[in-house]
Amino acid sequence: MLKLIHMTDLHLTGTGELHFGHDTHEATRQALDHARTHFADAGFLVITGDLANWGEIGAYRKLERLLADYPLPVYLMIGNHDNRDNFLSVFGDRHRFDAPFMQYWADHDRYRLLFLDTQTAGTAGGAFGSHRLRWLDQRLSESEREVLMFMHHHPTPTGAHAMDAKGVADWDAFHRVLARHSAKIRHIFHGHCHTDMQGHIEGISFSGLRSMGSQVYPDLSTEMVSRWEGAPHYAVALIGERSLVTHQQDFTYAGDVHTHPRGQFTDFVNNCAKRGVNVPDADPDPLEIAS
Ligand SMILES: [Fe+2]
Ligand SMILES: [Fe+2]
Repeated sequence: MLKLIHMTDLHLTGTGELHFGHDTHEATRQALDHARTHFADAGFLVITGDLANWGEIGAYRKLERLLADYPLPVYLMIGNHDNRDNFLSVFGDRHRFDAPFMQYWADHDRYRLLFLDTQTAGTAGGAFGSHRLRWLDQRLSESEREVLMFMHHHPTPTGAHAMDAKGVADWDAFHRVLARHSAKIRHIFHGHCHTDMQGHIEGISFSGLRSMGSQVYPDLSTEMVSRWEGAPHYAVALIGERSLVTHQQDFTYAGDVHTHPRGQFTDFVNNCAKRGVNVPDADPDPLEIAS
């Protein structure tokens, strides 16, 4: 069983400037502390882009300091808000980037991890283009391992206009690559949408998360961007040979969490009986119903 931690859209700023009123540095610090405390046994942490809101070197240096003593391997990716040159000046030695793009791969446990670069010039949306699609197709072809894929932009249209207006220009070509290799791709983890979302594309499951700053409400009735005061979160994913489950972690929740021993089923039966409800002690017999 592989356990991994997925965070996204930190939107750190060099000056401490807030992101729509949210202190993204403090949220990221809290998220990392929470993950360190609760999931020290995870295999790695991945952050799927928009590390910096304005792409300042100072924001990447802040992230470098936040991660300085982090005990797990950390895989970093860029999103549309990031600046390639400034990211590289701080993190250039960190991964084996397929220059000039920030795409790379790594093997972990029994999985091939593919970290994609969907940033494209001149738009907040993304694109692959022929070079990056060929790279992806080749990495998928050569992998004898099952693949976990990570990307910043969402892998398919969502039905939310404001999100899809900032989607991937060549989704169709990307989907054709996915379709050729869908049997070996276990899951796609993504960011960008600032909302938690699940689905599948070409038979491959995917999941996206809220950001460390402002969240987007998935309002399907408007072409406007709908922001709300949702709390940030991150996810821990448990990946077994035949299953994959993600659990969102509400790390800023300050209320109580009530823990108690698991109740006995006989207590449930007795409580139902007190209310005049009989809990059967045997399942229905299908043969009896058929006759
Ligand atoms: Fe973002
Ligand atoms: Fe983004």
